[in-house]
Amino acid sequence: MNFSLIIVAAGSGTRLGHDIPKQYIAIGGQSILQHTLNAFIGVAGLQDICIVMNESHENLFYTALPDIPPNICVCYGGDTRQDSVRNGLNALDPHDDDIVLIHDAARPFIDRGDIQNLIEAMQSHKAATLAHPVADTLRYVDDHKNAGQAVSRDNLWAVQTPQAFRAGMLKQAHAQNNQGATDDTALVSALGIPVHFVKGNKRNFKITQKEDLDLAQHLLPTETHIGTGFDVHAFDESSLDVKSVRLCGVDVAYDRKLKGHSDADVGLHALTDAVLGAIGAGDIGMHFPPSNDDFKGMDSAVFLQRAIEIMRDKGGFLVNADVTIICERPKIGEYREAMVKRMAEIMGVATHRVNIKATTTEKLGFTGRKEGIAAQAAVSIQMPQKDD
Ligand code: CTP
Ligand code: MG
Repeated sequence: MNFSLIIVAAGSGTRLGHDIPKQYIAIGGQSILQHTLNAFIGVAGLQDICIVMNESHENLFYTALPDIPPNICVCYGGDTRQDSVRNGLNALDPHDDDIVLIHDAARPFIDRGDIQNLIEAMQSHKAATLAHPVADTLRYVDDHKNAGQAVSRDNLWAVQTPQAFRAGMLKQAHAQNNQGATDDTALVSALGIPVHFVKGNKRNFKITQKEDLDLAQHLLPTETHIGTGFDVHAFDESSLDVKSVRLCGVDVAYDRKLKGHSDADVGLHALTDAVLGAIGAGDIGMHFPPSNDDFKGMDSAVFLQRAIEIMRDKGGFLVNADVTIICERPKIGEYREAMVKRMAEIMGVATHRVNIKATTTEKLGFTGRKEGIAAQAAVSIQMPQKDD
Protein backbone atom coordinates (compact mmCIF):
# COMPACT_ATOMS: atom_id res chain seq x y z
CA MET A 1 0.00 0.00 0.00
CA ASN A 2 1.23 3.47 -0.85
CA PHE A 3 1.47 6.10 1.86
CA SER A 4 2.96 9.53 2.53
CA LEU A 5 4.68 10.74 5.65
CA ILE A 6 4.69 13.89 7.77
CA ILE A 7 7.45 14.16 10.38
CA VAL A 8 6.69 16.86 12.92
CA ALA A 9 9.93 18.47 14.05
CA ALA A 10 8.92 22.02 14.94
CA GLY A 11 8.92 21.70 18.72
CA SER A 12 11.43 23.35 21.03
CA GLY A 13 12.10 20.49 23.46
CA THR A 14 11.37 22.50 26.62
CA ARG A 15 11.05 19.48 28.90
CA LEU A 16 14.45 18.16 27.85
CA GLY A 17 16.03 21.56 28.48
CA HIS A 18 19.02 21.02 26.17
CA ASP A 19 20.78 24.00 24.57
CA ILE A 20 19.27 23.04 21.20
CA PRO A 21 15.85 21.49 20.43
CA LYS A 22 15.99 17.75 20.96
CA GLN A 23 15.46 16.70 17.33
CA TYR A 24 18.80 18.33 16.40
CA ILE A 25 20.90 16.65 19.11
CA ALA A 26 23.36 14.11 17.69
CA ILE A 27 23.21 10.55 18.98
CA GLY A 28 25.20 7.74 17.44
CA GLY A 29 26.91 10.22 15.13
CA GLN A 30 23.75 11.64 13.55
CA SER A 31 20.98 14.00 14.58
CA ILE A 32 17.87 12.48 16.12
CA LEU A 33 15.91 13.87 13.17
CA GLN A 34 18.25 12.15 10.71
CA HIS A 35 17.79 8.80 12.51
CA THR A 36 14.02 9.28 12.37
CA LEU A 37 14.09 10.03 8.66
CA ASN A 38 16.47 7.12 7.96
CA ALA A 39 14.01 4.72 9.60
CA PHE A 40 11.43 5.47 6.90
CA ILE A 41 13.62 5.82 3.82
CA GLY A 42 13.19 2.71 1.68
CA VAL A 43 10.05 1.37 3.40
CA ALA A 44 7.87 -0.23 0.69
CA GLY A 45 5.07 2.04 -0.51
CA LEU A 46 6.50 5.32 0.82
CA GLN A 47 5.67 8.14 -1.60
CA ASP A 48 6.00 11.77 -0.44
CA ILE A 49 7.68 13.01 2.73
CA CYS A 50 7.08 16.35 4.41
CA ILE A 51 9.17 17.50 7.38
CA VAL A 52 7.73 20.27 9.50
CA MET A 53 10.32 22.52 11.09
CA ASN A 54 10.28 25.59 13.26
CA GLU A 55 10.89 28.79 11.29
CA SER A 56 13.57 29.86 13.75
CA HIS A 57 15.51 26.56 13.43
CA GLU A 58 16.47 26.84 9.76
CA ASN A 59 20.25 26.63 10.37
CA LEU A 60 19.94 23.80 12.87
CA PHE A 61 17.63 21.96 10.51
CA TYR A 62 19.93 21.96 7.49
CA THR A 63 22.95 21.16 9.66
CA ALA A 64 21.05 18.20 11.15
CA LEU A 65 19.96 16.98 7.70
CA PRO A 66 22.90 17.97 5.50
CA ASP A 67 22.01 15.62 2.66
CA ILE A 68 18.26 16.08 2.64
CA PRO A 69 17.00 14.86 -0.75
CA PRO A 70 15.45 17.69 -2.81
CA ASN A 71 12.18 15.78 -3.25
CA ILE A 72 11.43 15.98 0.48
CA CYS A 73 9.10 18.88 1.20
CA VAL A 74 9.94 21.10 4.15
CA CYS A 75 7.46 23.51 5.71
CA TYR A 76 7.16 25.63 8.83
CA GLY A 77 5.25 24.44 11.89
CA GLY A 78 3.07 26.34 14.31
CA ASP A 79 2.77 27.04 18.02
CA THR A 80 1.30 23.63 18.88
CA ARG A 81 1.92 20.15 17.55
CA GLN A 82 -1.58 20.23 16.06
CA ASP A 83 -0.76 23.44 14.15
CA SER A 84 2.41 21.79 12.88
CA VAL A 85 0.56 18.70 11.63
CA ARG A 86 -2.01 20.93 9.92
CA ASN A 87 0.73 22.92 8.18
CA GLY A 88 2.36 19.67 7.09
CA LEU A 89 -0.93 18.45 5.65
CA ASN A 90 -1.39 21.69 3.72
CA ALA A 91 2.14 21.50 2.34
CA LEU A 92 1.83 17.81 1.40
CA ASP A 93 -1.61 18.41 -0.13
CA PRO A 94 -2.63 14.73 -0.41
CA HIS A 95 -5.78 13.39 -2.07
CA ASP A 96 -8.54 12.57 0.41
CA ASP A 97 -8.09 8.82 -0.13
CA ASP A 98 -4.32 8.84 0.34
CA ILE A 99 -2.88 7.28 3.46
CA VAL A 100 -0.85 9.73 5.52
CA LEU A 101 1.37 8.77 8.43
CA ILE A 102 2.18 11.33 11.13
CA HIS A 103 5.35 10.71 13.09
CA ASP A 104 7.19 12.55 15.88
CA ALA A 105 10.76 13.52 15.02
CA ALA A 106 11.54 12.74 18.66
CA ARG A 107 10.97 8.97 18.12
CA PRO A 108 14.12 7.90 16.26
CA PHE A 109 13.91 4.20 17.19
CA ILE A 110 10.81 3.42 15.16
CA ASP A 111 11.11 -0.08 13.75
CA ARG A 112 10.56 -0.70 10.03
CA GLY A 113 8.58 -3.85 10.77
CA ASP A 114 6.20 -1.85 12.98
CA ILE A 115 5.74 0.77 10.23
CA GLN A 116 4.80 -2.08 7.89
CA ASN A 117 2.38 -3.56 10.44
CA LEU A 118 0.70 -0.16 10.74
CA ILE A 119 0.36 0.20 6.97
CA GLU A 120 -1.07 -3.32 6.75
CA ALA A 121 -3.69 -2.43 9.37
CA MET A 122 -4.87 0.32 7.01
CA GLN A 123 -6.09 -2.40 4.59
CA SER A 124 -8.96 -3.08 6.96
CA HIS A 125 -9.21 0.04 9.15
CA LYS A 126 -9.87 3.71 8.54
CA ALA A 127 -7.27 4.86 11.04
CA ALA A 128 -4.55 3.13 13.01
CA THR A 129 -1.82 3.95 15.48
CA LEU A 130 1.13 2.22 17.04
CA ALA A 131 0.77 1.95 20.80
CA HIS A 132 2.00 -0.12 23.70
CA PRO A 133 0.06 -1.72 26.59
CA VAL A 134 0.88 0.00 29.86
CA ALA A 135 2.98 -2.23 32.14
CA ASP A 136 3.32 -0.15 35.31
CA THR A 137 0.71 0.03 38.07
CA LEU A 138 -1.10 3.35 37.82
CA ARG A 139 -2.17 5.74 40.59
CA TYR A 140 -3.54 9.25 40.76
CA VAL A 141 -0.98 11.37 42.61
CA ASP A 142 -1.22 14.91 43.95
CA ASP A 143 1.84 16.62 45.39
CA HIS A 144 3.69 13.29 45.60
CA LYS A 145 0.83 11.70 47.56
CA ASN A 146 -1.68 9.05 46.74
CA ALA A 147 -4.74 10.99 45.67
CA GLY A 148 -7.33 8.43 44.85
CA GLN A 149 -8.08 4.97 43.66
CA ALA A 150 -5.57 2.91 41.74
CA VAL A 151 -6.34 2.98 38.05
CA SER A 152 -6.66 -0.41 36.48
CA ARG A 153 -4.13 -0.77 33.72
CA ASP A 154 -6.34 -3.29 31.92
CA ASN A 155 -7.05 -1.98 28.44
CA LEU A 156 -4.77 1.02 28.92
CA TRP A 157 -2.29 1.62 26.12
CA ALA A 158 0.38 4.30 25.78
CA VAL A 159 -0.08 5.88 22.36
CA GLN A 160 2.92 6.23 20.07
CA THR A 161 3.47 7.41 16.53
CA PRO A 162 3.41 6.89 13.59
CA GLN A 163 -0.36 7.20 13.33
CA ALA A 164 -2.04 6.47 10.00
CA PHE A 165 -5.14 8.06 8.49
CA ARG A 166 -6.91 8.67 5.22
CA ALA A 167 -5.94 12.24 4.43
CA GLY A 168 -9.52 13.53 3.95
CA MET A 169 -10.58 12.34 7.40
CA LEU A 170 -7.49 13.85 9.03
CA LYS A 171 -8.07 17.23 7.35
CA GLN A 172 -11.66 17.16 8.57
CA ALA A 173 -10.56 16.28 12.11
CA HIS A 174 -8.14 19.21 12.13
CA ALA A 175 -10.74 21.58 10.71
CA GLN A 176 -13.28 20.68 13.40
CA ASN A 177 -11.05 20.83 16.44
CA ASN A 178 -8.49 23.40 17.42
CA GLN A 179 -7.87 22.43 21.01
CA GLY A 180 -4.16 21.78 20.55
CA ALA A 181 -4.54 18.01 20.84
CA THR A 182 -1.23 16.27 21.53
CA ASP A 183 -1.86 13.64 18.88
CA ASP A 184 -4.05 12.98 15.85
CA THR A 185 -5.69 9.84 17.20
CA ALA A 186 -7.45 12.11 19.72
CA LEU A 187 -8.72 14.38 16.93
CA VAL A 188 -9.94 11.58 14.68
CA SER A 189 -11.53 9.72 17.61
CA ALA A 190 -13.45 12.92 18.43
CA LEU A 191 -15.13 12.56 15.01
CA GLY A 192 -16.42 9.17 16.14
CA ILE A 193 -14.06 7.29 13.85
CA PRO A 194 -12.57 4.19 15.50
CA VAL A 195 -8.78 4.10 15.52
CA HIS A 196 -7.21 0.64 15.38
CA PHE A 197 -4.39 0.06 17.87
CA VAL A 198 -1.39 -1.87 16.57
CA LYS A 199 0.99 -3.15 19.23
CA GLY A 200 4.33 -1.43 18.75
CA ASN A 201 7.69 -1.68 20.45
CA LYS A 202 8.79 -0.04 23.69
CA ARG A 203 11.97 1.08 21.93
CA ASN A 204 9.82 3.54 20.01
CA PHE A 205 9.76 5.87 23.03
CA LYS A 206 9.58 9.62 22.61
CA ILE A 207 12.72 11.43 23.72
CA THR A 208 11.17 13.88 26.18
CA GLN A 209 13.22 14.12 29.38
CA LYS A 210 16.94 14.00 30.07
CA GLU A 211 16.84 10.30 31.03
CA ASP A 212 15.26 9.48 27.65
CA LEU A 213 18.21 11.13 25.93
CA ASP A 214 20.64 9.18 28.13
CA LEU A 215 18.88 5.96 27.18
CA ALA A 216 18.94 6.91 23.48
CA GLN A 217 22.68 7.55 23.72
CA HIS A 218 23.17 4.11 25.26
CA LEU A 219 21.22 2.50 22.47
CA LEU A 220 23.48 4.12 19.88
CA PRO A 221 26.94 4.41 21.41
CA THR A 222 29.65 6.29 19.52
CA GLU A 223 33.40 6.36 19.56
CA THR A 224 35.67 9.29 18.73
CA HIS A 225 37.96 8.97 15.73
CA ILE A 226 40.72 11.39 14.86
CA GLY A 227 42.44 11.84 11.52
CA THR A 228 45.34 13.90 10.29
CA GLY A 229 46.33 15.08 6.84
CA PHE A 230 49.37 16.77 5.33
CA ASP A 231 49.97 18.22 1.88
CA VAL A 232 52.51 20.30 -0.01
CA HIS A 233 52.31 22.08 -3.35
CA ALA A 234 55.09 24.02 -5.04
CA PHE A 235 54.56 27.43 -6.59
CA ASP A 236 54.48 27.40 -10.36
CA GLU A 237 57.29 29.83 -11.16
CA SER A 238 56.36 29.83 -14.84
CA SER A 239 52.82 31.13 -14.16
CA LEU A 240 52.29 34.63 -15.56
CA ASP A 241 49.64 37.28 -14.91
CA VAL A 242 48.48 35.38 -11.85
CA LYS A 243 46.30 37.32 -9.41
CA SER A 244 45.37 34.73 -6.80
CA VAL A 245 46.08 31.33 -5.32
CA ARG A 246 43.30 28.99 -4.11
CA LEU A 247 43.62 28.16 -0.42
CA CYS A 248 40.97 26.51 1.77
CA GLY A 249 38.35 27.10 -0.91
CA VAL A 250 39.06 30.84 -1.19
CA ASP A 251 40.99 32.85 -3.80
CA VAL A 252 43.80 34.63 -1.96
CA ALA A 253 45.51 37.57 -3.72
CA TYR A 254 49.04 36.49 -4.76
CA ASP A 255 51.20 36.56 -7.87
CA ARG A 256 51.91 32.83 -8.00
CA LYS A 257 49.70 29.79 -8.42
CA LEU A 258 50.41 26.40 -6.92
CA LYS A 259 51.33 23.54 -9.24
CA GLY A 260 48.96 20.60 -9.16
CA HIS A 261 46.67 18.32 -11.09
CA SER A 262 43.53 19.83 -9.56
CA ASP A 263 43.24 23.44 -8.33
CA ALA A 264 46.13 22.54 -5.95
CA ASP A 265 44.29 23.72 -2.84
CA VAL A 266 46.68 22.35 -0.19
CA GLY A 267 44.34 23.26 2.66
CA LEU A 268 41.41 21.29 1.30
CA HIS A 269 43.67 18.38 0.35
CA ALA A 270 45.07 18.09 3.87
CA LEU A 271 41.57 18.31 5.32
CA THR A 272 40.20 15.72 2.89
CA ASP A 273 42.97 13.33 3.91
CA ALA A 274 42.26 13.97 7.61
CA VAL A 275 38.58 13.08 7.13
CA LEU A 276 39.41 9.97 5.09
CA GLY A 277 42.00 8.98 7.70
CA ALA A 278 39.57 9.29 10.60
CA ILE A 279 37.01 7.02 8.95
CA GLY A 280 39.55 4.48 7.70
CA ALA A 281 38.88 5.22 4.04
CA GLY A 282 42.42 5.52 2.68
CA ASP A 283 43.61 8.78 1.17
CA ILE A 284 42.71 11.34 -1.45
CA GLY A 285 44.84 9.69 -4.17
CA MET A 286 42.89 6.43 -3.82
CA HIS A 287 39.57 8.16 -4.43
CA PHE A 288 40.80 10.72 -6.98
CA PRO A 289 43.86 9.29 -8.78
CA PRO A 290 45.98 12.05 -10.41
CA SER A 291 46.20 9.76 -13.45
CA ASN A 292 42.49 10.41 -14.09
CA ASP A 293 42.13 13.40 -16.40
CA ASP A 294 38.59 14.06 -15.12
CA PHE A 295 40.14 15.66 -12.05
CA LYS A 296 42.34 18.07 -14.04
CA GLY A 297 41.85 21.61 -12.74
CA MET A 298 39.09 20.30 -10.47
CA ASP A 299 37.73 22.44 -7.62
CA SER A 300 39.05 20.57 -4.55
CA ALA A 301 35.73 21.22 -2.79
CA VAL A 302 34.55 18.15 -4.71
CA PHE A 303 37.18 15.96 -2.98
CA LEU A 304 36.26 17.21 0.47
CA GLN A 305 32.56 16.87 -0.22
CA ARG A 306 33.09 13.26 -1.30
CA ALA A 307 35.08 12.44 1.87
CA ILE A 308 32.30 13.95 4.01
CA GLU A 309 29.70 11.97 2.05
CA ILE A 310 31.58 8.72 2.76
CA MET A 311 31.81 9.74 6.42
CA ARG A 312 28.05 10.32 6.59
CA ASP A 313 27.34 7.02 4.83
CA LYS A 314 29.27 5.35 7.64
CA GLY A 315 27.15 7.20 10.21
CA GLY A 316 29.93 9.67 11.07
CA PHE A 317 29.48 13.17 12.47
CA LEU A 318 32.20 15.80 12.19
CA VAL A 319 32.89 17.28 15.62
CA ASN A 320 35.66 19.67 14.58
CA ALA A 321 38.28 20.34 11.93
CA ASP A 322 41.49 22.28 12.43
CA VAL A 323 43.71 23.30 9.51
CA THR A 324 47.15 24.90 9.63
CA ILE A 325 48.57 26.64 6.57
CA ILE A 326 52.37 26.82 6.60
CA CYS A 327 53.90 29.49 4.36
CA GLU A 328 55.85 32.74 4.36
CA ARG A 329 53.55 34.33 1.79
CA PRO A 330 50.70 35.01 1.10
CA LYS A 331 49.42 36.22 4.45
CA ILE A 332 46.25 34.40 5.48
CA GLY A 333 44.87 36.63 8.28
CA GLU A 334 42.34 38.69 6.36
CA TYR A 335 40.99 35.58 4.55
CA ARG A 336 40.57 33.45 7.65
CA GLU A 337 36.88 34.19 8.18
CA ALA A 338 35.99 33.56 4.54
CA MET A 339 37.96 30.29 4.63
CA VAL A 340 36.19 29.06 7.75
CA LYS A 341 32.85 29.94 6.19
CA ARG A 342 33.67 28.21 2.90
CA MET A 343 35.05 25.05 4.49
CA ALA A 344 32.02 24.78 6.78
CA GLU A 345 29.77 25.26 3.76
CA ILE A 346 31.58 22.56 1.75
CA MET A 347 31.29 20.11 4.66
CA GLY A 348 27.72 21.11 5.58
CA VAL A 349 28.62 21.87 9.20
CA ALA A 350 28.33 24.92 11.48
CA THR A 351 31.25 27.39 11.31
CA HIS A 352 32.09 26.89 15.02
CA ARG A 353 33.29 23.38 14.08
CA VAL A 354 36.02 24.71 11.77
CA ASN A 355 39.27 26.49 12.66
CA ILE A 356 42.09 27.78 10.48
CA LYS A 357 45.55 28.75 11.61
CA ALA A 358 48.58 29.98 9.70
CA THR A 359 52.24 29.92 10.55
CA THR A 360 55.62 30.47 8.93
CA THR A 361 58.75 28.34 9.32
CA GLU A 362 60.86 31.37 10.25
CA LYS A 363 62.23 31.58 6.68
CA LEU A 364 63.63 28.03 6.99
CA GLY A 365 63.14 25.29 4.45
CA PHE A 366 61.06 25.34 1.25
CA THR A 367 58.18 27.30 2.76
CA GLY A 368 60.70 29.77 4.21
CA ARG A 369 62.19 30.20 0.74
CA LYS A 370 58.65 30.79 -0.64
CA GLU A 371 58.96 27.79 -2.94
CA GLY A 372 55.61 26.37 -1.92
CA ILE A 373 52.92 25.99 0.71
CA ALA A 374 52.32 23.16 3.18
CA ALA A 375 49.13 22.46 5.08
CA GLN A 376 48.22 20.09 7.84
CA ALA A 377 44.80 19.22 9.22
CA ALA A 378 43.29 17.33 12.11
CA VAL A 379 39.67 16.28 12.54
CA SER A 380 37.61 14.62 15.21
CA ILE A 381 34.67 12.51 14.09
CA GLN A 382 32.01 10.66 16.08
CA MET A 383 31.38 7.22 14.59
CA PRO A 384 28.91 4.50 15.57
CA GLN A 385 30.68 2.19 18.01
CA LYS A 386 31.90 -1.10 16.56
CA ASP A 387 32.24 -4.16 18.75
CA ASP A 388 35.55 -5.77 17.79
N1 CTP B 1 6.14 19.45 17.56
C1 CTP B 1 5.93 20.27 16.46
N2 CTP B 1 5.41 21.52 16.62
C2 CTP B 1 5.11 21.98 17.84
C3 CTP B 1 5.31 21.17 18.97
C4 CTP B 1 5.82 19.90 18.81
O1 CTP B 1 6.22 19.86 15.34
N3 CTP B 1 4.63 23.22 17.95
C5 CTP B 1 6.74 18.14 17.36
C6 CTP B 1 8.06 17.97 18.14
O2 CTP B 1 9.15 18.49 17.38
C7 CTP B 1 8.14 16.49 18.39
C8 CTP B 1 6.67 16.05 18.38
O3 CTP B 1 5.91 17.13 17.89
O4 CTP B 1 8.84 15.80 17.38
C9 CTP B 1 6.20 15.62 19.77
O5 CTP B 1 6.17 16.74 20.62
P1 CTP B 1 6.96 16.90 22.00
O6 CTP B 1 7.56 15.62 22.40
O7 CTP B 1 6.04 17.60 22.94
O8 CTP B 1 8.18 17.85 21.57
P2 CTP B 1 8.48 19.34 21.97
O9 CTP B 1 7.23 20.15 21.92
O10 CTP B 1 9.64 19.78 21.17
O11 CTP B 1 8.95 19.17 23.50
P3 CTP B 1 8.40 19.93 24.78
O12 CTP B 1 6.92 19.68 24.82
O13 CTP B 1 9.14 19.33 25.94
O14 CTP B 1 8.72 21.38 24.57
MG1 MG C 1 5.52 19.62 23.21
